[in-house]
Amino acid sequence: MTEAIITYYTDHYDEDARLDRRPQARLERTRTLELLAAHLPPPPATVLDVGGGTGFYARVLTTAGYAVRVLDLVPAHVEQVRAGTPAVPAEVGDARALRFRDASYDATLLLGPLYHLHDRADRVAALREAARVTRPGGPVLAAAISRFAAPLDLGATSRLDARALTEAESLLTDGRNDPAVGFTHAYFHRPEELRAECEAAGLTGAVLHGLEGPLWTAAEAAAAGPNAEPVYTAALDLARLFSTEPSLTAASGHILAATIRP
Ligand SMILES: C[S@@+](CC[C@H](N)C(=O)[O-])C[C@H]1O[C@@H](n2cnc3c(N)ncnc32)[C@H](O)[C@@H]1O
Repeated sequence: MTEAIITYYTDHYDEDARLDRRPQARLERTRTLELLAAHLPPPPATVLDVGGGTGFYARVLTTAGYAVRVLDLVPAHVEQVRAGTPAVPAEVGDARALRFRDASYDATLLLGPLYHLHDRADRVAALREAARVTRPGGPVLAAAISRFAAPLDLGATSRLDARALTEAESLLTDGRNDPAVGFTHAYFHRPEELRAECEAAGLTGAVLHGLEGPLWTAAEAAAAGPNAEPVYTAALDLARLFSTEPSLTAASGHILAATIRP
C-alpha cells in the first residue's frame, strides 16, 4: 500500500498545485494558516512537519522565522521541499516510526499521514510518534479527512452517480476509500474517531476544528458562476464562526485536531 501511495503522488497527482486549485483548497489553506498562527508557539520555535508534502506550510513558517524540518513518505515531495524558496530541510520517512529523539521539537504537524493509514493501530502509532518527539506542553496538530467529504463534494458538483452513491454507503461502515473510485488508499474519519485515536496516543483534550466549514460544498457548486466570490466569502466566514461547533465538524472536508503533548 505504501508503494501505491508513493506512485500516486509521484506519477498521478500534482500535490504542489493542490492548495491553489479549488474553493475547498483555498478554505483549507486559509483556515490551516490561521490555526497554525493560533496554536504554534512564536518563532523561532522548532517545528517538525510530518507528511509535509511539497512544503507549502513549511515555507510559510520558515519565512515567518520558525526552524522547520519536513519529513514525507514521497521522495519527489522531499526534493521539492529542498528545492523550494526558501529551501527547507527535508527527508524521506514514515510517520509511524520517526528517527528523532523524544521531546526534540517545540511543535509537530501531522497534516497528511492520517489520510493514508487504513489501520487504527498505524494511525495511533503516527500520533504517538508525533507526541513523543514534541516537548511537553508543545502542540501537536493532526488533520484527518472527513468521512462525508467525498459524497458531499460529488453531490454539490453534480457528480454523485450510482457508483459514487454505493461507495458513500460502504464508507459509512468502513471508512476506507476504494482507490478504483478515485484518490488512492485512504481512510476517512468521523470526528469522534479522531478524538479517540488522539487519546489512545496519549494526546488528551483535543480541540477539533472543521477546517472548511459547512458551506464549502456550496462554494464548490458556485465556483464557475457569478456568485463564486460572495459564496466563497460566506463559506470562509462560517468556517471561522463554526470552527469548533461539534454538530458541524464532520460537514467540513478536513478535521484538524489541536492537541498538546502532556
Ligand atoms: C494530501 S498531502 C498533504 C501535504 C501537506 N501536509 C498539506 O497539508 O498540504 C499528504 C502527504 O502525506 C504524506 N504521507 C502519507 N503517508 C505518510 C506516512 N506514513 N508518513 C509520512 N508521510 C506520509 C504524503 O506523501 C503526502 O505528501
